[in-house]
Amino acid sequence: MTDRVTFDGPVILGAGLAGLTAALAAVDTGGKALVLSPTPLATGCSSAWAQGGMAAALSDEDAPALHAADTIAAGAGLCDPTAVELLTTEGPAAVRALAALGAPFDRQPDGGFVLSLEAAHAKARVARVGGDGAGAAIMAAVIATVRATPAVEVRENARARRLLQDATGRVVGLIAEIDGALVEILAPAVILATGGVGGLYAVTTTPAQVRGEGLGLAALAGAEIADPEFVQFHPTAIDIGKDPAPLATEALRGEGAILRDRDGRAFMADYHPARELAPRDVVARAIHAERAAGRGAFLDATQAVGAHFPHEFPAVFAACMGAGIDPRVQPIPVTPAVHYHMGGVATDLDGRASLPGLYAAGECASTGVQGANRLASNSLLEAAVFGARAGRAAAAERAIGGEPVSLEPLPDLPEAALQTLRKAMSRDAGVIRDAEGLERLATQIEALEPAYGPCPTVVAAKLIVRAALARQESRGGHYRADFPATALPERTFVTLQDQETGRAVRYAAE
Ligand code: SIN
Repeated sequence: MTDRVTFDGPVILGAGLAGLTAALAAVDTGGKALVLSPTPLATGCSSAWAQGGMAAALSDEDAPALHAADTIAAGAGLCDPTAVELLTTEGPAAVRALAALGAPFDRQPDGGFVLSLEAAHAKARVARVGGDGAGAAIMAAVIATVRATPAVEVRENARARRLLQDATGRVVGLIAEIDGALVEILAPAVILATGGVGGLYAVTTTPAQVRGEGLGLAALAGAEIADPEFVQFHPTAIDIGKDPAPLATEALRGEGAILRDRDGRAFMADYHPARELAPRDVVARAIHAERAAGRGAFLDATQAVGAHFPHEFPAVFAACMGAGIDPRVQPIPVTPAVHYHMGGVATDLDGRASLPGLYAAGECASTGVQGANRLASNSLLEAAVFGARAGRAAAAERAIGGEPVSLEPLPDLPEAALQTLRKAMSRDAGVIRDAEGLERLATQIEALEPAYGPCPTVVAAKLIVRAALARQESRGGHYRADFPATALPERTFVTLQDQETGRAVRYAAE
């Protein structure tokens, strides 16, 4: 028989920036929070791998409204302006709060933040740490704070195997697997902060174990999912046969690095007037096209960065040198890779999902700030701003609800089937999509459920693929070769049941 415990505060799944910020905010008013992390802290979350930084209006020349305008322009018609206003208005305080916890942002001699310019930002507004080390340094400061906060209980090697619901559908806790043993945890609120979907694809810059589990768990419980078809491909993952693929940060192109084919020809002028600083989806498609044509794609930072690599971009330098490429004197082979999921569990501005008792924050949520294409360096910011809001709202929940009605843990997809799925997702739901590939992929995914049961990862893949099929246009991260034009701006809001009955629900963006 499975043990049952009752926890008097929110249970948070995931220990990236969103999850830990939610935990700290939840206990701020005197309560407690339980964080379940599938891996040791700092090791399995995308936040700790972020090379960019945090975008916020931190200088006198900038303003939240300017940051909001850039975010909305990048979002290609699908951002929720209210959510964006909140993100950009609360952004500067969120960055300062992390600095106060000890995050060592790069500083000017007068103490102000050193701010970098990134593609599609009208102002220099990205606060960085040590060139390309923002994620790791921010997470180190937050983890130290969590470790020093007794009201936040952390269990590592712990993951969710099902959300528990009472007869009304309210989420009343979850089945966790902790150190290999199953335990039912009843709680007044559950916050999903499980990250994105990179591990569902063969080529990704995110930790491999981040594979849409929160999305699948929420959808299987009946929660509404928003915009699952919008997956962001980073143009320049380092193509050295590693899984996950290390990232060559966009900041290299900001510094003047050039994309070349294997004959040394700079090709971006063929695709966009802004060349290397074109929108991320445009650059990803250009690199995809060059590679598909057999010409290869290489990021040449030998002139732009050269000898400065070891101290300006230490993470990129180490990844290249580890593969026998010296980026000071050699171009870096690059490939597009899944980097971020704009879609996720639909939430309100306080992280509330459509099911009572359920919250989501960070990449696994869809607050409406990322639209069809996330603006660079807005993801850690969203995790901090909306993680705190979700933590505060979930901490205010007191009642646990009724007796859970279904107590079977959900199955896992076996490793061999997962690897086959990952290859199929990269091939057919990748940078360029069409009906033929998506139909083939949907058929392949639908054969997995009778074989392996309702695995959350398979459900996440199904949501992405079905919504990509339904969206017969190209916009932001979603490009259909058979529907290259952009139609009216409409977000997707869908439940698993809607998808199974063939009804993908859309609402016009505000
Ligand atoms: C990068 O450094 O290129 C990634 C930044 C981001 O995705 O926000």
